[in-house]
Amino acid sequence: MKAIKSNGEAGLDGLSLADLPDPGLPGRGEIRVRLHATSLNFHDLGVVTGRIRTATGRIPMADGAGVVEAVGEGVSEFAIGDPVVSTFFPQWLDGEPPVDDFSTTPGDGIDGYAREAVITPASAFTRAPVGYTHAEAATLTTAGLTAWRALVVNGGLKAGDTVLVLGTGGVSIFALQLAKAMGASVLVTSSSDEKLERARRLGADHGINYGKVKDWGKHVRELTHGRGVDHVVEVGGVGTLAQSIEAGRIGGHLSLIGVLTGRAGPVPTGLLMTRQQRLQGLVVGSRQQQLDMIRAIEATGIKPIIDRSFALEGLTDAFRLQQAGGHFGKIVVEF
Ligand SMILES: NC(=O)c1ccc[n+]([C@@H]2O[C@H](COP(=O)([O-])OP(=O)(O)OC[C@H]3O[C@@H](n4cnc5c(N)ncnc54)[C@H](OP(=O)(O)O)[C@@H]3O)[C@@H](O)[C@H]2O)c1
Repeated sequence: MKAIKSNGEAGLDGLSLADLPDPGLPGRGEIRVRLHATSLNFHDLGVVTGRIRTATGRIPMADGAGVVEAVGEGVSEFAIGDPVVSTFFPQWLDGEPPVDDFSTTPGDGIDGYAREAVITPASAFTRAPVGYTHAEAATLTTAGLTAWRALVVNGGLKAGDTVLVLGTGGVSIFALQLAKAMGASVLVTSSSDEKLERARRLGADHGINYGKVKDWGKHVRELTHGRGVDHVVEVGGVGTLAQSIEAGRIGGHLSLIGVLTGRAGPVPTGLLMTRQQRLQGLVVGSRQQQLDMIRAIEATGIKPIIDRSFALEGLTDAFRLQQAGGHFGKIVVEF
């Protein structure tokens, strides 16, 4: 079986194609999945560049989608031929998050899905949405579920709400699509006017170039007639949080999802307090939340935006595209 292995210390040049032994047949409670697609996330980039330390020779990639090839004894949820998609926290089935690290996450603490086949506990996958390609399904594990949890599970999004998404990467574009499908208004920031135009074509109500408009938080307030937005999908962290607090309404909800601009720094706590906003850190979501999201996807007809697709052998080039920031939405790998 073909797989990609990573030697994080050597950076992207440390990614190599390997021929691994076939994983065999599933045992009790397990399934064998023939993987056909994965999608790239900022976290995966951290693993393959060595910014996030993992075991040497780790098979990267948290997202995996494919077809059930064999079913072990005692598994009733899946049958041979079912299209499935992986979960980010294989042991977080429902309820409150049980972990605050990535020790159980495929492609980080354990081997991931840059490989043709895997034997795994059945609960490490869910069904894929009806009508989705494997590439589309693969975008849901990390980016899709993070956007869903931020807006719906933690944010309680409802029709008529206003949502601010930062940038046009995988999480933000999925959040844009989800918010529009659920009857919200959406404001998008980007470093690129061309990407803002693409976001408008997807339904964004307003676009702000954060490279040109430095006080974009104030601009968001003006665009919302002084009220501010109900939800912010915060992927920037320390470098953007002050503007996001400024952009949020009194009592608004800020989902701290990413730390693209740095891991620590000053926060205007006084304004956060007087605005009486909720600032929530979150990491992806549970298996049950993934199933709920899939039901919503089928009801709304949302299809993820895939910028480019690569072959397994092209994973290094795919990461170079992500590093350059030229993408809009998701980058996927199909095999
Ligand atoms: N907590 C979680 O569960 C979770 C899950 C998934 C991702 N994340 C995090 O969320 C972040 C985004 O992930 P992703 O996979 O969507 O990444 P991605 O697809 O690589 O997108 C990154 C995008 O962020 C935008 N960006 C960069 N710097 C920015 C800034 N200063 N202000 C506003 N936007 C900025 C850029 O948009 P433009 O090109 O339009 O400027 C860029 O395209 C990362 O930090 C990642 O680690 C967290």
